[in-house]
Amino acid sequence: MRRPFVAGNWKMFKTVAEARALMVELLPGLMAIQGVEIVVCPPFTSILPVAAALEGTSICVGAQNMHWEESGAYTGEISPTMIAEFCKYVIIGHSERRAYFGETNLTVNRKVRAAITYGLNPILCVGETLSENEAGLTQEIVIQQLKEGLDGIDFTSIASPIIAYEPVWAIGTGRAATSEDANHVIGDIIRRELGQIFGDNLAQEVRILYGGSVKATNAGEFFSQVDIDGALVGGASLKPFEFIPIVKAAVG
Ligand code: PGA
Repeated sequence: MRRPFVAGNWKMFKTVAEARALMVELLPGLMAIQGVEIVVCPPFTSILPVAAALEGTSICVGAQNMHWEESGAYTGEISPTMIAEFCKYVIIGHSERRAYFGETNLTVNRKVRAAITYGLNPILCVGETLSENEAGLTQEIVIQQLKEGLDGIDFTSIASPIIAYEPVWAIGTGRAATSEDANHVIGDIIRRELGQIFGDNLAQEVRILYGGSVKATNAGEFFSQVDIDGALVGGASLKPFEFIPIVKAAVG
């Protein structure tokens, strides 16, 4: 049985003061929910205060990105060791990083390798753009992202590897994939490909999330699908009245 998993990706929102205030609103509701792994991914500047707010709870902190080198002359970057002081998870290859910051499957691969080296669990994001979807290329693109992103990686050395299927056209648009389509990509394409690369036993253990316009009103539909193990939530993770019910829905 794969334990349900819900991560909130705060993106570039919330100052430290705002992050603290949001945690005060979120914590009572989240702490009352059992049976789901919860991760909060604030911007770098709020990782420390959010980690402090979560101390003594089972809720984890994640980062939204990182560099692959341990240290060096990389102005503006944050290293895996810096993140590993506070975080258990790190989002890698989010489509916004691929679209706006030049990330490729190659840099994604370096980051996944670095995450493993420094004991972080990668939340590897894959997903097709609207034009790729309309051209019928979803399977091809997602498989290529997995093959190249995971090239040479020993998945068995990761405690909790997570994959997030996030169709780019569904992110922040209010236009979520249907739960059937998401389950098809996750089960028949992603889990099957993981089976090809790592063997079926491991593929059955890896938790695969859906992301893209998940809300309190549609979360239950996604979580009722057999291959969808949770969600990567963007906009709705900043709203307690959305995020808390989404996490609850993951328990079933
Ligand atoms: P969204 O974003 O929930 O706002 O669509 C999801 C994500 O980018 O991870």
